[in-house]
Amino acid sequence: MVSKNISHPILFIFLVSCNFSCSSAQTWIRAGYWYTGSDFPLPEVNSALFTHLICAFANVNFSTYQLSTPSAHEQNFSSFTDIVKRKNPSITTLLSIWNGKAATTQLILGQRANFSVLSKMLENPSNRKSFIESSINVARRYGFQGIDLLWPWLNTASYMINMEKLLDEWRAAVTSEARNSDLPRLTLTMAVRYIPTFESLIYPVESMKRNLDWAHVVAYDYHLHLKENVTGAYAALYDHSSYVNTDYGIKQWLNYSFPASKLVLGLPYHSYAWTIANPKDNNGIGAPASGFAVTKDGSMSYKLIKWYTRSYGGLIAYNDTYVVNYCTVGSTWINFDDVEAIRSKIAYVKAKKLLGTNVFQVGNDDEIWALSRAAQEEGNDHEKKPRLLLVIVLSVTSVVILIAFVVCFWQRELLKTRGMIVLGRSRSTSTSAVDSDAPNLKVYRFSSLKVATNNFSSENKLGEGGWIWSRLQG
Ligand SMILES: *[C@@H]1O[C@H](CO)[C@@H](O)[C@H](O)[C@H]1NC(C)=O
Ligand SMILES: *[C@@H]1O[C@H](CO)[C@@H](O)[C@H](O)[C@H]1NC(C)=O
Ligand SMILES: *[C@@H]1O[C@H](CO)[C@@H](O)[C@H](O)[C@H]1NC(C)=O
Ligand SMILES: *[C@@H]1O[C@H](CO)[C@@H](O)[C@H](O)[C@H]1NC(C)=O
Ligand SMILES: *[C@@H]1O[C@H](CO)[C@@H](O)[C@H](O)[C@H]1NC(C)=O
Ligand SMILES: *[C@@H]1O[C@H](CO)[C@@H](O)[C@H](O)[C@H]1NC(C)=O
Ligand SMILES: *[C@@H]1O[C@H](CO)[C@@H](O)[C@H](O)[C@H]1NC(C)=O
Repeated sequence: MVSKNISHPILFIFLVSCNFSCSSAQTWIRAGYWYTGSDFPLPEVNSALFTHLICAFANVNFSTYQLSTPSAHEQNFSSFTDIVKRKNPSITTLLSIWNGKAATTQLILGQRANFSVLSKMLENPSNRKSFIESSINVARRYGFQGIDLLWPWLNTASYMINMEKLLDEWRAAVTSEARNSDLPRLTLTMAVRYIPTFESLIYPVESMKRNLDWAHVVAYDYHLHLKENVTGAYAALYDHSSYVNTDYGIKQWLNYSFPASKLVLGLPYHSYAWTIANPKDNNGIGAPASGFAVTKDGSMSYKLIKWYTRSYGGLIAYNDTYVVNYCTVGSTWINFDDVEAIRSKIAYVKAKKLLGTNVFQVGNDDEIWALSRAAQEEGNDHEKKPRLLLVIVLSVTSVVILIAFVVCFWQRELLKTRGMIVLGRSRSTSTSAVDSDAPNLKVYRFSSLKVATNNFSSENKLGEGGWIWSRLQG
């Protein structure tokens, strides 16, 4: 059959062009955290939507300054890389370090968090050495390709100075380890505040530039019901009434000559619900508020926000002045990043020529990965422009060759048989596009969800919120 013959040149050219585009350097980071303490099963993470996934969190032992993984989650760390590579063999995996749990509990309880373990580790050269060595060992043991340090609250001058030393030593250690092991060097990344300054202090920008593969900006938790009595935009890209917004922070990072090519923008897949004083006062930001709503600390995953607003018939609005979505249900007001806000932020990342985005945290996306898909689609034009040209040129060429081939063949066949050629058409049955109106989406009843989540308690779900950052911004 003719159709069988002609499929080869197309396939061949297609494969060539695909190979070409797949082999060009990775230029756009789409990273995301997965938290071992969350209840979102790792095998369900659609890792094809990401270029990097970060397994969170290993702790620092306060007597040895070595890394330890929470024993209940040992398995989650050791199998992480294998599991996420099933859906995306080219994904890069990182191990994130954060001495969080004790400090987080203190933050939840409204106490001052105790970060003494990390600061003691930083202070002393031999502590830094054991930390660095064990971080490399643990990362290698579990097959990670990089290490991430999550500690965005450098708030004393000595932290800043010691962090500079740590980063120099760490980079030297991963470089020499790579040389000795013949493995690719471990990637080094770090989470930083939305702005490089803290009171009169400034991050060790030069050392970060030298040593990190990238820094990702915690560009959320700007306004929290815990601290404020008027609603504010949680992760505003712009805010003309205050400096606490992403655009201001990014401009500061760039002004302090941190390179755009090493800056990754944090995207929150969660937010907080506020109780507003006057339910009629629902036009968005700046309404008097009296605390939180819905969950025990107000924190809600994007998935829960979507479910909640759908269940209660709340209308989601978008304010492009701030780049934020918001919704009012009775006296509950939620502002968050929906697809529109995510798209605008990706466009911003492109315009500023930043390196990409990093999600906290991937399991909070909804059932159809709406946010991650939006981020991927929006980011793809950026990645693929030069390739697109190549693909078009190759496609046009292949079509021309194909037509010539078909014409030749057809004429010959026609002469031989005087028959008719019927090109078989196979119907494309693409199942990859997810219909957002799919009727089989699971819809939970509010009451059963409430029970299932223990009245939306976040106490057992330390990862749902981003509130680990709270009180650290602004
Ligand atoms: C972590 O690993 C254990 C098995 O060791 C598994 O039962 C659990 O579901 C994993 N946690 C998540 C969030 O996937
Ligand atoms: C810290 O390390 C010491 C010595 O190896 C060990 O005995 C202790 O249990 C560790 N602590 C934690 C919290 O892992
Ligand atoms: C902070 O934690 C360290 C180690 O866990 C402990 O030794 C210290 O007493 C704590 N400090 C405060 C103020 O709780
Ligand atoms: C909100 O808090 C500010 C101080 O942070 C206070 O001056 C103001 O009176 C408070 N407003 C209300 C309505 O409670
Ligand atoms: C930009 O950075 C310089 C230091 O490099 C600082 O002196 C200046 O105040 C910064 N500009 C703004 C607008 O913050
Ligand atoms: C965005 O919100 C602010 C404050 O609530 C409001 O003044 C402004 O008109 C809104 N803009 C749009 C486009 O909705
Ligand atoms: C959940 O809240 C309801 C009241 O809103 C209460 O009766 C129930 O005991 C709570 N359940 C749990 C597990 O906290």
